[in-house]
Amino acid sequence: MAFNIKALVLAALVLNAYAVSAPKPVDPLASVTLSAPDGSAKAAFIPFGATTTNFWVKDKHGKFRDILLGYDNHTLYQSQADGHPYFGPIVGRYANRIRNGTFTIPISKDASGPGQKFQILENENNGTDTLHGGIVGYDARPWTLVKQSSNSVTFSLVDPDGDQGFPGTVTTSVTYTLEPKSTWKISMHATATELTPIMLSGHHYWNLEAYQETQDLVGHYAQFDSSKFIATTGTLIPTGELTPVDGTAMDFRKPKSIGNAIPETAEAQFCGTGCVGFDNAWVYDNNDCKKPVFSIWSVNSGIKLDVTTDQLALQVYSCNGIDNPALPIPRKADQGGPSERYTDHSCVVIEQESYIDAINNPEFKINQIYGPKRPYSWEATYAFSVLK
Ligand SMILES: *[C@@H]1O[C@H](CO)[C@@H](O)[C@H](O)[C@H]1NC(C)=O
Ligand SMILES: *[C@@H]1O[C@H](CO)[C@@H](O)[C@H](O)[C@H]1NC(C)=O
Ligand SMILES: *[C@@H]1O[C@H](CO)[C@@H](O)[C@H](O)[C@H]1NC(C)=O
Repeated sequence: MAFNIKALVLAALVLNAYAVSAPKPVDPLASVTLSAPDGSAKAAFIPFGATTTNFWVKDKHGKFRDILLGYDNHTLYQSQADGHPYFGPIVGRYANRIRNGTFTIPISKDASGPGQKFQILENENNGTDTLHGGIVGYDARPWTLVKQSSNSVTFSLVDPDGDQGFPGTVTTSVTYTLEPKSTWKISMHATATELTPIMLSGHHYWNLEAYQETQDLVGHYAQFDSSKFIATTGTLIPTGELTPVDGTAMDFRKPKSIGNAIPETAEAQFCGTGCVGFDNAWVYDNNDCKKPVFSIWSVNSGIKLDVTTDQLALQVYSCNGIDNPALPIPRKADQGGPSERYTDHSCVVIEQESYIDAINNPEFKINQIYGPKRPYSWEATYAFSVLK
């Protein structure tokens, strides 16, 4: 059976269903602020999107900086008026893009197989693909605050059967914990009542200088052992191929400046037609889930982030198109706002995840279909330190 209902009609039904049946948290925009037990880090969250709004760690001078992008005015998290950059939420039920908004279960190449076909609401590229779970993704729903202590908070979300076109009810919880030595642990679990694709991720925008020393990424360095990235079309839809990074701007196996590498991407347009920068998924060569697989640091603030995770791949977005002059995004006051705005190539989104659109590319051989007998889980530890 295929869902052939027009996207807008379904969207209206979905929104109406929320109005009637969604559990209503007291205030989805009210902050929950956490502190690490040793005082080494602080962070703030809101139930809307299970969003992280602020993240403070100490720089090389021992001073706290808020190194996460976001809005001081929390009502902007609910708005589409600023181009909706997905500042800081959990994205799901299926992160990144779904080709044509379709897939089959069991999966098949570009949904061409005999399995049951599903059509998800399409919200990108003139309605030709689905980005981050549809028109109303997990980033745009009021999660419920279920548990809170001085250094940990848990949010949960019930995503009903049929919402955005996905099969089965999915119940997700995310726990954010601040541990000693400025260590941030994110843990997600989801269960599904029917077979359904699930891929969750945290969609955090970082500027490890909090825009103090510079307004670009030249002083931001990264290193990660990935010899291949997922090849995509001009609209960033995976083709099913993996491309070697050798001899390209995509090679971060040795530490290098992100900002200096951005112009080198111009010719190949890795981040899409006409795009300069990074908006790509790399596959980790070796991940034992114990050692950090991704590192990024600023030589100016001295702040370094090392990520340990159980995920197979990594999306990096270098804020290529964040600054639309018609819809400027004001910076937070502690990042120079609101008179200054967030500009292109001034921030980095880092998403630990699985292979993007593996549900349309069986050649990846990654099983992203979960269900009653197969719960989903996702773990990452973000350890901050100061360069020696
Ligand atoms: C926050 O943003 C909303 C939506 O743009 C606006 O109506 C409101 O006035 C803003 N609040 C403040 C305090 O600026
Ligand atoms: C996917 O969409 C493209 C462009 O919108 C179209 O040409 C193609 O036929 C579609 N593929 C399938 C399998 O529906
Ligand atoms: C979407 O439609 C507009 C207007 O027709 C066009 O200029 C643009 O290239 C289209 N974008 C894509 C990704 O197809």
